[in-house]
Amino acid sequence: MAQTRKIALHYLHHASWSALPPEDRELLELAAKAARNAYAPYSKFKVGAAIRMESGEIIPGSNQENASFPAGTCAERTALHAAMAVLPKGVVESLAVVVPQVKGSKPVTPCGICRQALVEQERRQEGPMRLLLGVVKGPVIETFSAETLLPLSFDSSQLGKKAR
Ligand code: THU
Repeated sequence: MAQTRKIALHYLHHASWSALPPEDRELLELAAKAARNAYAPYSKFKVGAAIRMESGEIIPGSNQENASFPAGTCAERTALHAAMAVLPKGVVESLAVVVPQVKGSKPVTPCGICRQALVEQERRQEGPMRLLLGVVKGPVIETFSAETLLPLSFDSSQLGKKAR
């Protein structure tokens, strides 16, 4: 007989940035600043990201689009891959993703491919990263891991391999 198994999704919803500690507000500010470097002539949807490594380095990223649409990359993966290209043994402590404030805008939540890439990083660093998903001067969603957003994910363990 089939069993019903449930997965609970726990996250924090902050009504505004002011409720957050200064280091989180700073990371969100840096992500907002990074959005100015987005190359989004097709979607006109500029997204900024900023990663804080456990060692303290900050790595920004923004979405970079392409006339061949699938060749573009989201802000999250731009930042993640830039970070790992220079700090291959680094541990991502937090990733902030920010979109500008437009009427009624909600925090942007990572696409499926980015979730997969972020979960891979959690396997690689053998620990979770925090996600801060915010709107400039608006609400912020905080999760305690990327896996929270991708339960039952496909990962290296299913290939019988260790990510490292
Ligand atoms: N995008 C991001 O950079 N991050 C997200 O979390 C969602 C979407 C980008 C991809 C594309 O350049 C544009 O937003 C519209 O989808």
